[in-house]
Amino acid sequence: MRPRRFLPAGPLRGRIRVPGDKSISHRAIMLSALAVGESRITGLLEGEDVLATAAAMRAMGAEVERLDEGEWRVHGVGVGSLLQPQTALDMGNSGTSTRLLMGLVASHPITTTFIGDASLSKRPMGRVIEPLSLMGAAFEASPGTNGSQTLPLMVRGALPGVPIRYRLPVASAQVKSAVLLAGLNTPGITTVVEPVPTRDHSERMLRGFGARLTAETDTDGARVIALEGEAELRPQDVEVPGDPSSAAFFLVAGLLVPGSDIVIENVGLNPTRAGLIGLLRQMGGSIEETNARVVGGEPVADLVVRHSALGGIEVDPAIAPSMIDEFPVLFVAAALAQGRTVTSGLDELRVKESDRLAAMAAALGAAGARIEEREDGLVIEGTGGDPLRGTDGPITTHLDHRIAMTMAVCGLASRHGVELDDTRPIATSFPPFEAMLDGLAQ
Ligand code: S3P
Repeated sequence: MRPRRFLPAGPLRGRIRVPGDKSISHRAIMLSALAVGESRITGLLEGEDVLATAAAMRAMGAEVERLDEGEWRVHGVGVGSLLQPQTALDMGNSGTSTRLLMGLVASHPITTTFIGDASLSKRPMGRVIEPLSLMGAAFEASPGTNGSQTLPLMVRGALPGVPIRYRLPVASAQVKSAVLLAGLNTPGITTVVEPVPTRDHSERMLRGFGARLTAETDTDGARVIALEGEAELRPQDVEVPGDPSSAAFFLVAGLLVPGSDIVIENVGLNPTRAGLIGLLRQMGGSIEETNARVVGGEPVADLVVRHSALGGIEVDPAIAPSMIDEFPVLFVAAALAQGRTVTSGLDELRVKESDRLAAMAAALGAAGARIEEREDGLVIEGTGGDPLRGTDGPITTHLDHRIAMTMAVCGLASRHGVELDDTRPIATSFPPFEAMLDGLAQ
């Protein structure tokens, strides 16, 4: 355990550049490892989650090598040529690595075992097991609570797999991506229908690597994504934009700490990820976009953030997928806003790295916020800009990086500070977080 107390800070000032996008980094390594030949990746996130993906692709035959900070070279084996790993793949804390790789191996003639940490071992895997079983793969999973299927689990891949048309029962980019990745080595057309759009990095990058993929909107407004199987991927140079989910902590910190004025450079603004920015603006936050450009096929800009008085808001559940990882830090913004914020339709938050509704209700409550926890959301009465009291004892982060970073931000906007039981989980997605925060607060 590495505990720390995050103390109230004076104005945050300066420029930062957040590390590469976690979702895009995972996909860049996986697709490079499946292309025949050498790909280069720059701006790669070197967090523990992405390193777990890199290690897994190495264990299945790809050469994955770090050249310099964020700069990696990958020599891929080709779709269909992944090798049998000799040991279990340790996914650490990473749900994205696990679910996407389960898809990849499901259409290769190999048997793969996945293990993970205590948090990951509680998370439901039935959502990917179901469609991948329809494609012909066989699974042996561990029993979780309430009949769920969890890690450790074993996948026996199918060759040839069966192409399916699968309508997503949950709005999950991980499930969509698992099916599409399984479709890469499956003859015929694999189709995913998304009633609610989720992040589309897999689609963008699969196309960038030369896969034949179409995405259309049907008459009901659902997105229909079709991938032609037995694909041949061509090696690419990929530049990974900064992670909007990492920028989110600094957006909220800048808005809440009086006198703050910061610039966050190179933030990915893919519309399937940018929900928080629009919402904070609706709450009265001053966030300006400058230097808009395209990086690695994704829209990117620098964000100028200034301290602002925020107002409470009723959050439309329809925007949840475009800010699914940002709700914890939104709850902190709401705790200091004027008036009431109501969120609903957030059942998915209960099956992330922790139960984020319960974890945030407990942590913010301990810091002095007025919170009501409902089945599918939180209702928060804001202070109208006054700092929260802060915590006496340490709050529990539950091996969840986003709970840790969120409550660090809360500490800056408190009177006595917020103590975390453990800052180590931060390294899964944002190793330099504490150094950047401390740098801005000087
Ligand atoms: C991710 C998708 C989201 C998100 C996760 C990363 C991805 O999960 O919470 O941090 O890279 O596809 P779900 O697709 O399960 O909502």
